[in-house]
Amino acid sequence: MKTYLSTDRGASFTDFAVLSSHNEIIHTTYLPNRKWEDILAVYNRIDQEFSPCELFFTGSVQGLPEGLKGKIHTISEIEAIAFGGAFVSGKEKCLVVSMGTGTAVALFDHGRTMHISGTGVGGGTISGLGLLLAGIKDPLQLNHFALGGKASALNLTLSEVGYEQVGFLDGDLTVSNFGSIKTSRKEDLSAAILCMAAEVTGVIASLSARIYHLEEDIVVTGNLSRSNYIQSSLRSVGQLYNTRFHFPENPEYATAFGAVKSFFYKQIK
Ligand SMILES: Nc1ncnc2c1ncn2[C@@H]1O[C@H](COP(=O)(O)OP(=O)(O)OP(=O)(O)O)[C@@H](O)[C@H]1O
Ligand SMILES: [Mg+2]
Repeated sequence: MKTYLSTDRGASFTDFAVLSSHNEIIHTTYLPNRKWEDILAVYNRIDQEFSPCELFFTGSVQGLPEGLKGKIHTISEIEAIAFGGAFVSGKEKCLVVSMGTGTAVALFDHGRTMHISGTGVGGGTISGLGLLLAGIKDPLQLNHFALGGKASALNLTLSEVGYEQVGFLDGDLTVSNFGSIKTSRKEDLSAAILCMAAEVTGVIASLSARIYHLEEDIVVTGNLSRSNYIQSSLRSVGQLYNTRFHFPENPEYATAFGAVKSFFYKQIK
């Protein structure tokens, strides 16, 4: 059985995945950085253990070491995001939202891909604001505290400004993120930060989905999508916008898988 090694060097993390020619996930691992010397060490270990017959690379290839030049297939990140979201969700047509350090939105339609939208609000924003406001940078810790907090303790809500219902909007809707500071508890701060990131990305994804009539098929990938607070906030945005967010397994490796899928799809074509 042939195996393929794919590496996704993102803005913060580097993800590695070994796939078989039968689409099985053989091995996954990651580095919490993007240093070439660390990447090469992982490459060599995987090479010895799994002897992959093809090497793929997506994300940032800037500064690619000489030793790898000529050996790897480089795949554009948007292609890899789109194919990866389709692969982990099993969908033929979907809008893929990659929530990493930043957020990118791509369309997948039976092998056709397109960069649709995105925002600088993402995991980097959450860690940065978490550090500044609550003294917490670790996304897992922020998620943990957020689950015990209330974003509405810092947000201005519709009912707070005297409306219970405006059109299709409910009273607990956010009128202004961080617009009504009633606490500085780290649980509430964490919730308000994660809530803001999910609302911004959720609205962008929902509007993008509407353009392509993919309201029911928004697939969320990237490390940030593993946060259950983010997942539940995105579902709330979905209720408001009549859109549906899907959270497949292995979201953090989706882009690495997608690089392999894209390459072989194009080869067959
Ligand atoms: N378990 C987790 N839950 C929530 N967020 C996480 C988790 N692990 C990492 N993150 C956050 O996810 C972000 C990195 O995600 P990911 O690895 O998907 O992005 P990247 O590929 O480095 O960046 P980009 O795709 O924007 O270039 C970081 O901001 C990090 O703080
Ligand atoms: Mg990424």
